Amino acid sequence: MSAIDLEFNEIQGNILGGFNTNVEVLIGLTADRSRTSDAARWLVDLAPDVTSVADVQEQRNAIKPLARGGRQLPITWLCVSVGSEYLGILREDLFVRDEAFMGGFRKRAPTALGDRTDPNSWVVGSTGAPLDVFLIVASNDEPAAQQWADQLIASAAAKGLRPTYRETARRIDDLEHFGFRDGISQPAVRGFDAKGDVGPGYFVFGYERDPGDGGYTPSGDPSNFLRNGSFLVFRRLSQDVRAFRDFCASKAASLVGDWPGLTGQHLEALLVGRWPSGALASSSIFSDPGRQPNENAFNFLDDMAGRNCPLGAHIRKVNPRDGPRDEVNVPRLLRRGIPFGPVVEEKPGADRGLAFISFQTSIKDQLEFLTGKWMNSRLRPGPDAGHDLLVGRSTTTRSLRISGPQGPVQVSDDGLQWIVPTGGGYLFAPGRSALRRMLDPLPAGVSWRLQKAVSLAVNGLFEMLAIER
Ligand code: HEM
Repeated sequence: MSAIDLEFNEIQGNILGGFNTNVEVLIGLTADRSRTSDAARWLVDLAPDVTSVADVQEQRNAIKPLARGGRQLPITWLCVSVGSEYLGILREDLFVRDEAFMGGFRKRAPTALGDRTDPNSWVVGSTGAPLDVFLIVASNDEPAAQQWADQLIASAAAKGLRPTYRETARRIDDLEHFGFRDGISQPAVRGFDAKGDVGPGYFVFGYERDPGDGGYTPSGDPSNFLRNGSFLVFRRLSQDVRAFRDFCASKAASLVGDWPGLTGQHLEALLVGRWPSGALASSSIFSDPGRQPNENAFNFLDDMAGRNCPLGAHIRKVNPRDGPRDEVNVPRLLRRGIPFGPVVEEKPGADRGLAFISFQTSIKDQLEFLTGKWMNSRLRPGPDAGHDLLVGRSTTTRSLRISGPQGPVQVSDDGLQWIVPTGGGYLFAPGRSALRRMLDPLPAGVSWRLQKAVSLAVNGLFEMLAIER
């Protein structure tokens, strides 16, 4: 037990620690709304199979010595989450005051996240096939994962939960499709990680955010259902690798007058903020220096003007660290994404990208803030930050200033995009006990009903007026 006493048997293992397996089968289920209690029973029955933090820790320790001896013991883990709208149907007494979660992904994607793709065309969570239940079957052994996925899908279908999405995502070592190492920087969680400095309440409900604050849960949870759970955001982001590389190569070529010797690879690294190896990118380092021992030991205090790493580089937009920013506390996410689709060299025309998955306890203040307020804005988090040209969205041409050897150069995206959002969902990953309580009777009395009605009406009004709170 840690000093904070996190309930490791309750909290799902993909939230803290993360699965990080070679293969993850992602499954989307859409519910027959007339069979709610069948589906709730199915979720209750699933509770013992859901992998907790304690399970992950125990099994990781068990396979470590075997792996050193060259043997592989198959591990297969499960993460379950329920879509925001469907959770409101299953547990009527829940009216979580997080308007992002309540509003739902399909409604919020075009406004709060700046996505432009039509939800009717999404691969997952489309208008006709809402993501009511999202399963992640993770394993280091693909046949085992596929077999369990088949069983889960068959048992779910018998309870009115129709499979509307299935995709097998596979790690490319630890790279994403543009060829950069990913998952290097994660918040260290107090009570879980060895030198954890970020309160667990930012990622798991019921725990402190700041020391001694009594624990965080949004109002609208009369039966303490959220405890040990977390909001899961899933964004399926297709990546056009050729478009990204061609853009960087031709942009670099067009800038040689202002920046002799600039290469496409150097520009790619400056847009990301790291080299493919994970080393911090800099205008004055012209090629990848390779993996560095302390690859996260930087805070940008020595680069406040972005002369080395551009202020609009992806990693500075989503985590400005101690550099210029207009918020004291940088919102953090636990990222659990995995690439999907074959690498570009294998099948150039195929759909590929990142199954971006993050855990947080406020979608609005964490994921949506980083995306809508910082990544998509030219002016934030610091003055003249420029757009995040890697992932950010904008209705206008995106641009970013980079310091070159002969002075600043302006890089505009020429209206091109290399990331296409192809669906996803806002979901809740419950603690194991909460999963077992899916069928519990609703609390007696009218007070929560009244509060819920008021809360829904206020939320609806804000949505209608498109006011950002
Ligand atoms: C296909 C889309 C994306 C690609 C290719 C991508 C790529 C990367 C890469 C290469 C890194 C550096 C590795 C690391 O520091 O761990 C990174 C870091 C990060 N990305 Fe993304 N990313 C994508 C989407 C997103 C989205 C949608 C968000 C949501 C806000 C996001 C948030 C972050 C965060 C928080 C970090 C860590 C920054 C730090 O702490 O230094 N990324 N990303």
